[in-house]
Amino acid sequence: ETSEKDHEFQEKIDRGVRIEANDWMPEGYRKTLIRQISQHAHSEIVGQLPEGNWITRAPSLQRKAILLAKVQDEAGHGLYLYCAAETLGISRDEMTAQLLSGKAKYSSIFNYPTLTWADIGAVGWLVDGAAIMNQVPLQRCSYGPYSRAMIRVCKEESFHQRQGFDIMRQLCQGTDDQKAIAQDALNRWWWPSLMMFGPSDKDSVHSEQSMKWGIKQNTNDELRQKFVDQTVPQAEWLGLTVPDPDLAWNEEKGGYDFGEPDWSEFYEVLKGNGPCNRDRLAARNKAWDDGAWYRDGLTAHAEKQQTIAAE
Ligand code: ACO
Repeated sequence: ETSEKDHEFQEKIDRGVRIEANDWMPEGYRKTLIRQISQHAHSEIVGQLPEGNWITRAPSLQRKAILLAKVQDEAGHGLYLYCAAETLGISRDEMTAQLLSGKAKYSSIFNYPTLTWADIGAVGWLVDGAAIMNQVPLQRCSYGPYSRAMIRVCKEESFHQRQGFDIMRQLCQGTDDQKAIAQDALNRWWWPSLMMFGPSDKDSVHSEQSMKWGIKQNTNDELRQKFVDQTVPQAEWLGLTVPDPDLAWNEEKGGYDFGEPDWSEFYEVLKGNGPCNRDRLAARNKAWDDGAWYRDGLTAHAEKQQTIAAE
């Protein structure tokens, strides 16, 4: 049953009016945004782990400084997005509890291991590249706080993508062994990167409604296609081979034809059975537990200040 209010809301969306935190909104719209923004925030937070793995082993001081800055940016994006979700009436504590218990989803990509330094290049190039492809249109999302958050996030993501590509460039212009680890990283990260865009359109549960509400601007398959079209020439420039025997330029559509990702692997990762799901959750839980003394200290300090103020 759509009410008069729902109609008015839809008209507002269709006119391109941004929805703000205090505006009336249908419960479904609120829930969809909380789901998407919190999953996005969790992805940024968990996304620190695969790269954090290499901070102590970066090959030079310069690479280490860049990587450290990038991982800190991801933390910032996470906090920014938790704040955007909080404007919709969920607390940061609730979202944290959902992540730590394993109830919340976060991007499948962060459940894969970073085995070599070339993986840090591939993550920046492909994973952040895919993230930008998905997030640039979200700058036009109908929900104001989310769309504005995306502007800054996208600027930082494009720096991340370039630093990843630069690592790949350096490796590909290096020794045979360096080129070989770059190719190996591409082989392992290509398909999981394509899965970041979500299931194919026919299996996407939320796309239709989310597009009607202006939350999403594109379908999962549209963005996946754009990503392939943008990335294949970059791989060629690097002298690397994309691990897809079905990849072929299609003159008629002005884009590449490409193979189907292994969706059974995707759904296994979503169920918690990816190569690193357990490690990632354990790491987040440990970080939370290790920080207990600090949170307790802050609470004790705040209580003391209140007592002093009341005296
Ligand atoms: N990893 C984990 N879960 C996923 C993924 C993925 N790559 N893709 C889809 N899903 C989940 C959806 O969250 C949804 O689950 P739910 O109903 O339990 O919430 C289910 O699979 C069905 O998918 P869709 O109906 O297509 O879901 P949706 O319309 O939300 O589209 C998408 C998925 C494209 C990821 C969308 O949520 C989105 O654009 N999110 C914002 C961007 C984002 O989260 N990026 C994170 C990675 S980038 C980074 O952090 C660096």
